[in-house]
Amino acid sequence: MDISKLDKLIKPSGTMAISNKSRELKSQGKPVIGFGAGEPDFPSPEHVVNAAINAASDPKNHKYSPAAGLESLRKVIVETSKQYSGFDVKPNNVIVSNGGKQSILTAFLSTLDDGDEVLIPAPYWTTYPEAVKIAGGNPVFIDTEKDNNFKVTVEQLENAKNSNTKMLVWCSPSNPTGVVYTKEEAEEIYEWVFKNDLWILSDELYEHLVYEGETSPSPAIYDPELKNTIIVNGVSKAYSMTGWRVGWLIANDKVIGLGKKIQSQATSNVSNVSQLAAESALLNGLDVTNEMKIAFNRRRLFATEKINSISNLDVIDSTGAFYLFVDVSHYCSGNNGINSSEELCDWLLENYFIAFVPGEVFGSPGFMRLSYALSDEDLDIGLSRLNEAIDNLNE
Ligand SMILES: Cc1ncc(COP(=O)(O)O)c(C=O)c1O
Repeated sequence: MDISKLDKLIKPSGTMAISNKSRELKSQGKPVIGFGAGEPDFPSPEHVVNAAINAASDPKNHKYSPAAGLESLRKVIVETSKQYSGFDVKPNNVIVSNGGKQSILTAFLSTLDDGDEVLIPAPYWTTYPEAVKIAGGNPVFIDTEKDNNFKVTVEQLENAKNSNTKMLVWCSPSNPTGVVYTKEEAEEIYEWVFKNDLWILSDELYEHLVYEGETSPSPAIYDPELKNTIIVNGVSKAYSMTGWRVGWLIANDKVIGLGKKIQSQATSNVSNVSQLAAESALLNGLDVTNEMKIAFNRRRLFATEKINSISNLDVIDSTGAFYLFVDVSHYCSGNNGINSSEELCDWLLENYFIAFVPGEVFGSPGFMRLSYALSDEDLDIGLSRLNEAIDNLNE
């Protein structure tokens, strides 16, 4: 029996593939240091864990709850969106989902028809194009320039747009580059989106993880009725809660109406225990986030300096998220039998037990992504191994 044509269309998560490979080597006793993880290395806050214990003890939480999310959590999401991000919506504009990832798919399923095109600036987070394809749309990649800090320009967007263009995917601070658009740069892009009456899916998962300057303003500030704007956010990154699987979608009534139908048929409610844990995270403010940020910033500065001191490696200025995007193109030209960043990452993992995610996964060959969400000690040891590996390639 045949299976769906999706099988030929979509790829598994490239970042998860690296994690699996690292895990396998670790289980064989190899001293793997993982720079691949897309998650903070801290435990979830104690108040979050306690909220979950209390929630699990209450029989009311053992039952189904509304598919769009607990009313109390949706209210807190509205309050924190206003307080931190500066836009004002109603609880009915919010759907709580199984992580931001599910919200991204729901957003595409709710807005795209077969053949609709979605503009995705590359490098991009690996899930976007696959989720667009699952929803029947066509991803259209726009290659951004390293010399422009991988920021997309209005001119590039204008060149990529045609009558099938339906949406722009926007992620600032960015995964995988850590780049943060300034207010002026973001405003210019939003103005172009609104003028062309396109959707903008703004992925704000890393909103709070910015180390220099301001975070980018949300497009929702400029589009208070959410005519064109869909927001995705969640507790995974800012509160170190990746495993709890709580994210949310914010959009206008029409998108939310369809999104609710989709989610009610797909998953029903997110685990009540996780939702109440997320509520506790949001109610307790950003102290925990700010503490993690001190460690992330220290590691960011250390890693940037160390990598830039390695021969022919170059890292672009990253001021957000917890990623560095390293130019390794010098070592992908066939010398030493290494022809691509994918092969280089394989070689580094197999020979030096250091795991990076190759740029191919993000649509930008010749680069690799490094997550600095690991201990200072491992960061130091892992980067020393990288230095040694590159020295060997130069011999
Ligand atoms: C840019 C971006 N968006 C969304 C997500 C989804 O996060 P989650 O599903 O854990 O909320 C991630 C996770 O890696 C991400 O990096």
